[in-house]
Amino acid sequence: MTEDARIVRLADYRPPAWRIVRTELAFDLDLDDTVVAARLELTPGESYAPGAPLRLDGEELALLDIAVDGQPLPPARYALDGESLTVHGLVGPCVLETRARIHPARNTRLEGLYASRGLLITQCEAEGFRRITWFLDRPDVMSAWRVTLRADRARFPVLLANGNPVERGTLDDGRHYAVWENPHATPCYLFALVAGRLEGIHRDLVTAEGRAVRLAVWAAPEDIGRCGFALDAIERALRWDEQRFGRTYDLDVFNIVAVQDFTMGAMENKGLNIFNARYILADPDTATDADYLAVESVIGHEYFHNWSGNRVTLRDWFQLALKEGLTVFRDQEFTADLHSRAVKRIEDVRLLRGRQFAEDAGALAHPVRPVQYREINNFYTLTVYEKGAEIVRMLHTLLGEETFRAGMDRYFADNDGRAATVEDFLAAHAAVSGRDLAQFARWYAQAGTPQLRIDDEYDAMRGRYTLRIRQHTPPTPGQPDKQALLIPLRFALYGPDGEPVAAAAEGDAVVRDDLIELTADVHEIHFDGLPAKPLPAFNQGFAAPVRLDYAYTPAQLGRLARIERDAFNRWEALQRLATGVMLRTFADPRAAQAALSDALGDLLDDDAADPAFVAECLALPDFDTLADQVPQIDVDALLAAREELLDLLAEDHADRLERRYHALADLAAGGLDGPAMAARTLRNACLGWLARLDPHEALAQRQFDTATVMTDRLGALRCLVRFDAPGKDAALAAFRERYRHDPLVTDKWLTLVAARPQPEAVEDVRALLASDWWTPTNPNRVRAILGSFARMNPVAFHRADGAGYALLAAQLPGLDAINPQVAARLLGSFESWQRLAGPRRALAHDTLRGLDGKLTSRDCADLLARLLA
Ligand code: ARG
Ligand code: ZN
Repeated sequence: MTEDARIVRLADYRPPAWRIVRTELAFDLDLDDTVVAARLELTPGESYAPGAPLRLDGEELALLDIAVDGQPLPPARYALDGESLTVHGLVGPCVLETRARIHPARNTRLEGLYASRGLLITQCEAEGFRRITWFLDRPDVMSAWRVTLRADRARFPVLLANGNPVERGTLDDGRHYAVWENPHATPCYLFALVAGRLEGIHRDLVTAEGRAVRLAVWAAPEDIGRCGFALDAIERALRWDEQRFGRTYDLDVFNIVAVQDFTMGAMENKGLNIFNARYILADPDTATDADYLAVESVIGHEYFHNWSGNRVTLRDWFQLALKEGLTVFRDQEFTADLHSRAVKRIEDVRLLRGRQFAEDAGALAHPVRPVQYREINNFYTLTVYEKGAEIVRMLHTLLGEETFRAGMDRYFADNDGRAATVEDFLAAHAAVSGRDLAQFARWYAQAGTPQLRIDDEYDAMRGRYTLRIRQHTPPTPGQPDKQALLIPLRFALYGPDGEPVAAAAEGDAVVRDDLIELTADVHEIHFDGLPAKPLPAFNQGFAAPVRLDYAYTPAQLGRLARIERDAFNRWEALQRLATGVMLRTFADPRAAQAALSDALGDLLDDDAADPAFVAECLALPDFDTLADQVPQIDVDALLAAREELLDLLAEDHADRLERRYHALADLAAGGLDGPAMAARTLRNACLGWLARLDPHEALAQRQFDTATVMTDRLGALRCLVRFDAPGKDAALAAFRERYRHDPLVTDKWLTLVAARPQPEAVEDVRALLASDWWTPTNPNRVRAILGSFARMNPVAFHRADGAGYALLAAQLPGLDAINPQVAARLLGSFESWQRLAGPRRALAHDTLRGLDGKLTSRDCADLLARLLA
C-alpha cells in the first residue's frame, strides 16, 4: 500500500482541546489563484491542557502570513507539514490569523474550493474544508461565521456564501465584494461559497413562525429555464417539514445552486445547498418522470438536513448515519406523503435489497455506525444511508407516529446547536416512550442482514396455530458472532374467506395487534380458536430490513398477491413467486410459473389498480436481487433463467400488454400530474415487455419517433437498444445529435450504450473511452459510462473472458489520480467478487490483485485492502 495506514477509531474520541467560537474569512477569488484570509477566535475546549500546542488541519495550502493576537508569529512558534499547522505557546483565548494561497482550477478531487465551467464551488463534507484554510476540521467544532467574497465583477457577478447577505459593494479595478453572516453555530463541513456567472429565480414566503424567507435557485444562464420545478419543490419541502415534523426555516434566504461537476448528489451547506445539476434541472423535454421525482426527493433531503444535520450536527464522523439515515427516512416520508406510499416503499426496498443487502453480504460490509475507518469518504454507503433509514423506520414502527414525533421533538430540543451521537437520538426516543432501547441500538453496531426463518404448524383438534420464528445474522468481516436484534415483525393471518382473522396471541414474544417484537434467537407464538389453518403474511411494508424464509407454495403466493391488504406485500408475493421460478426453488415449477402468469394477467386486466403499482409488479426481480438470494453467483444461469421467464410471460400476455399500452395513451399524454405519470410508467413497462416479441419492436420505434416528452423518448430508446432492434443505431444517433450540447441528457444515451446487455458492450465502452465523450474529470460522465457498465450491465461486466473486469480496472489508476472518491465508488463494484461462481471468481480476484500498488489515494487503497482481506 502506498498510503499510510492511519486508522481512526470511535473508541479514541476526545472532545476538542480548542474551540473556534467565531470565524471570519475573506476570499480574493480567482480560478487559478485564490487567497484565503482566516481570522479564528479560539478558546480552550474541554480537553485543553495548558501549554499543549494547537494542531489545525490543512492540506495543499501555501502559507502567506500568520499572526496571533495581531502580532506576526515567528517561525519558531509554528510548524507546517502536508496535513497540519501546529502553533506553540498559546494560552487562553486568542485570535489566530492566517493567509493562504490555493489553486481552485487545479483541484480535480472536487473537495475544497474548485472550478467548474468558470464557476467557483466548494464541497467540504467530510474533510474538504482543510483544503481551504487551516482549521479544526471536525464536526464537533462549531463556529459563527462571517465571510467576505471579493472577485472580478464581470467574471463573478454572483457571490454566495452561507447564511444571510449583510453587505455588498464595489471595489477598484472592476472588482466587487459581498459579505455573508451565518449566526448559527455551524461546523466547517457545512461551509460553502459559490461565485460566478449564475442566473437565479426566487420566491418569497413566510414561514409558520412568521419569518420572511427568500427561496432561490441558481444555475448557469443556459440552464435557468429548467429550474422552476426545483423552486416549487423547495417550497413543498419547507411546508412539509413544518407540518409533519414541526421544523421551520431559520435564515432569511435559502439558496440552492446547480453545478455540472459534483462528486455526489448534493450537499446541505447551511443556507447554501450545492447540487449536482441532475438533481435540479428538469423540463419535459430533457427529464424523465423519474428524474422529476428524484429532483424533488433530493431537494427535500438536503432541505431536511437543515434540522437533521445542521441545527443538530454530528459529534464525529462515526455518527454519520445519525444525520444521513434520519434524513433519508425524512425524505422517504416526504415522497410517500406527496405521492404513492406503496410505490415509494417498493422502490426503496428494491434499492435496499438489490444493493444494500449485497453490501452487507460482501467484503465491504460494515455496521451502520462503523467503529473505525481509514477514509471516511468510503462510508457514504447504502448501509449508512439506506439501512440507516430502515433503523429509523423500525423505531417509527415500534413507537407509532405520535410517540415517534414526540421523540423527534425531544431530540431536536435537547440537541439544538449541539454535536450529537446515536445515543442522544435513542435517549430522546427512550425518554418519551419509556422504552429501553438498548437492544434496539444493536442495529447500529451489528453488520449483516438478519435472516428470519419461520415455520408453522396447525393443530386442527385444538384449533391452534403456532409460529416458530428464528433469527440469525451471518458473520461479516471483523464480526464473527452476532447477537439477537429487536425486530418488529408485522404480520397478518388470513382465513379461507380471504379476510384477516383476529386471534389472541400467546407466547414468548410481545405481540401487539399486527406486530410481533422479536428479541430472542427463537420465539414460539400460538394463536387459538382458529377453525382452519390460516395463510400467514409477514413483514408488511417491509417494516424490518430482513431476509424472510417461509416455505410458501406458489398457490399461497398467488393468493397473497390478491388478498393481502398491504400493497407492498402484494408486490412482494409476486417478487417471491418470480424469484422462486427463476431460481427453481419450487417443487412444482410448472404450477409456480402458472400461478405467476395468472396473477400478472389479473393485474393487467385490473383497470382500477394504480398503474404505477401494476408497473412495479411487472418489474420482476433484477439481476442484483436474484444474485442476493444465492450463496454462489452463477452469472450465466441467473441471467438465462431471468430472460427465459420474461420471454414466456411476454408471450402469455402479449394481448393484455398491447391493450393496456394503447388504452393508456390518452392519460399518458397529460402533464406532470400523478395519473399521467403513472400511466406513462405502466405504458413504458408494457412496451418493455412487448419489445421482447419480434413484431412489436415497431411499436418502440413508433413511440421513439413520435414522443413529446423524455420519459417516452428514453423509454422507447431503451427498448430499441435493449433488444437490438433494427432501428437502434439510427435512433441512438438521432438522440445523441438532438442533445449533443446537454451534458445530462448525453449521459442518458451513454448509459444506455454502456448498459446494453450484450457481451460486445465491452468494446462499445472501450470506444466511448477513446472518444471525445469521455471527460474523466466530470463525475457524472464517469458514472454514465463506467458506473453504468459495472453496476447495470452484468452481461458485459461479468463477461466470461474477464474483459469487463479488465476494462474497469485499467481505468482506475488514472481516475484515482483525478478524483479518488469517484474511483473508489467504481472499485466498489467488485464488492461481491468472493461469491462469484466458476472462473469469474479467480478472474475478478486476479484483477483486484493486479491493482495493488497502483491506486495511491487513501480512498482506493483502503477499499482495495478490504476487498482483498
Ligand atoms: N451530506 C451529503 C448528503 O446529503 C453528502 C455529502 C457526501 N460527501 C462526501 N464527501 N462523501 O447526503
Ligand atoms: Zn444527506
